Amino acid sequence: MDYNNLKIPDHVGIIVDGNGRWAEARKLSRSIGHKAGAKNLEKLTRYAISKGIKVLSLYVFSTENFKRSKEEVDYLMNLFITTFKKSNKKYAKENIKVVFSGREDRLSSDVIKTMNEMMEMTKNNTGGIVNFCLNYGGHSELIDACKKISQDVNNKVLDIDDLNEEIFPKYLYNDLPPIDLLIRTGGEYRISNFMLWHLSYAEFYFTPTYFPGFGYDEFDQAILDYTKRDRRFGGINYENKNN
Ligand code: FPP
Repeated sequence: MDYNNLKIPDHVGIIVDGNGRWAEARKLSRSIGHKAGAKNLEKLTRYAISKGIKVLSLYVFSTENFKRSKEEVDYLMNLFITTFKKSNKKYAKENIKVVFSGREDRLSSDVIKTMNEMMEMTKNNTGGIVNFCLNYGGHSELIDACKKISQDVNNKVLDIDDLNEEIFPKYLYNDLPPIDLLIRTGGEYRISNFMLWHLSYAEFYFTPTYFPGFGYDEFDQAILDYTKRDRRFGGINYENKNN
């Protein structure tokens, strides 16, 4: 698709869903579904950044995902380690900066180590940001921000009367722009505690496609859909009014 005629969102969020069902539909184990999802995610990330998207936030593990079986959680954690280890050089070379959003608690030291290596190797890159939301919850992010604010107020670094909508996001896990387009694969119509602050005026694209099958064509379709949306941010877009 010719992206020159499209409106490119600065920040795209993806709720990665349907790996398990993709595998079950093929009589494969859920693990194979996650592996296929990880492979697709890496391809899609590069594609999106190459098209001019500045920030891509990927919901790969929620705080609630710890409720899954130990076997599945362990598999996913190992998959994070092996995938990040394999891809860090590629991200470094392609000028992509990788950041993580989420709590460190409950993550093993091995997972944290690979995440830190990835951040360190890519921290000076300027060609786009990939934000992996791992052990992430939107409520936790807001609570953690309030705690940091309270500390700064106590230490007299911040006057509470100065807190506003520009300063607040600096206390979030990463200081990222608002999400313009949220994509959720797997057929559910909910946001599942994802980036609550950043989603305030996001446009939504929901698709029944299971994540491993969500390829370039459908990503293009989501961007085309977004191009046609009339974003008013609570006001009136006079340019699009006929009278
Ligand atoms: C949701 O599908 C997916 C997850 C909980 C994990 C997402 C993980 C990956 C894409 C792979 C690993 C990623 C990296 C960065 C290495 P689901 O299991 O909820 O699917 P279901 O709803 O069909 O059961």
